[in-house]
Amino acid sequence: MNLRIALITDDPGWHGARLCEAFTARGSSVRVVSLRDCAIDLVSKTHGLRVPGFESCLPDGVFVRGVPGGTLQQVVLYLDVLHALEAMDIPVYNNGRAIERSVDKGMTSLLLQRAGIPVPPTWVVSSAEYGQRIWAQERDAGHRLVVKPLFGSQGQGLVRLSGDDVLPPLADYQGVYYLQRFVEGERFDWRVFVVNGRARACMQRHGEHWINNVARGAVCTLAPRDRKLEALAEAAAGALAMDYAGVDLMRDECGKLQVIEINSMPAWKGLQAACGIDVADCLVEDFHNRYMQREDIVAVSE
Ligand SMILES: Nc1ncnc2c1ncn2[C@@H]1O[C@H](COP(=O)(O)OP(=O)(O)O)[C@@H](O)[C@H]1O
Ligand SMILES: [Mg+2]
Repeated sequence: MNLRIALITDDPGWHGARLCEAFTARGSSVRVVSLRDCAIDLVSKTHGLRVPGFESCLPDGVFVRGVPGGTLQQVVLYLDVLHALEAMDIPVYNNGRAIERSVDKGMTSLLLQRAGIPVPPTWVVSSAEYGQRIWAQERDAGHRLVVKPLFGSQGQGLVRLSGDDVLPPLADYQGVYYLQRFVEGERFDWRVFVVNGRARACMQRHGEHWINNVARGAVCTLAPRDRKLEALAEAAAGALAMDYAGVDLMRDECGKLQVIEINSMPAWKGLQAACGIDVADCLVEDFHNRYMQREDIVAVSE
């Protein structure tokens, strides 16, 4: 079945190549599309949307590997395109709402806590005084505090405060602090890869210092299977309604697992090397099985 897939990314690289191979192996054709080149175009033939490479007919399916950053207006437009595609009954994997929820670390933490999933004490504030008050309270109670950009990734912009450290200027965080109590416990963290509600691979990430992102030089090792940890990661991905997700967890000094964040567009090069599963194949298989077997999609593509 020749389905036409749009692979959304600005930087296909190794992950894009693996996904293209996996789609091609299932008889689909893939075009790499940057959201920067997509537009709302009410005079287009394709229902008011312009997607490069799909000028006469919109794609049969959309796999989102990367959404570029930008101004608020740019990001709203990129998400509008994803929402509009889905509103036209085109499967979008992960969809715009799942991406919105997880890119916003504050909303992620709130939704996780509301779903009964343990997260470290966290505050998201847009006032410098409010932020300072929280840091003073936490310091006086003997805690350390992590400051994160609300939309950060790959460990960028993270600062850990201890003792007499002062909160960095609010402007360094584009006007919003995401403040989280530092988890004192195991120094490595756990990354669980969840696909369609099921943990498919799990690794430990050992950073050179306290930030355990692979992009910051962390070493990945295969983690022993731990059903409790996997079940927590599965529940976390479910709470954010993710088709697939990379869930970051840490164990605190009492041995209790805490969910640190959920990634809706996780990289998997380190995970694949550590765990030996073909992640692109696993994702494309799930995408095909759950979304691309519908009669109406076949009819459109024929
Ligand atoms: N509250 C915390 N306590 C201890 N370590 C943390 C905490 N928050 C983040 N880290 C460390 O920093 C890494 C990156 O944080 P994360 O919230 O996942 O942001 P990013 O989106 O940049 O990956 C985590 O994987 C973990 O190693
Ligand atoms: Mg992370």
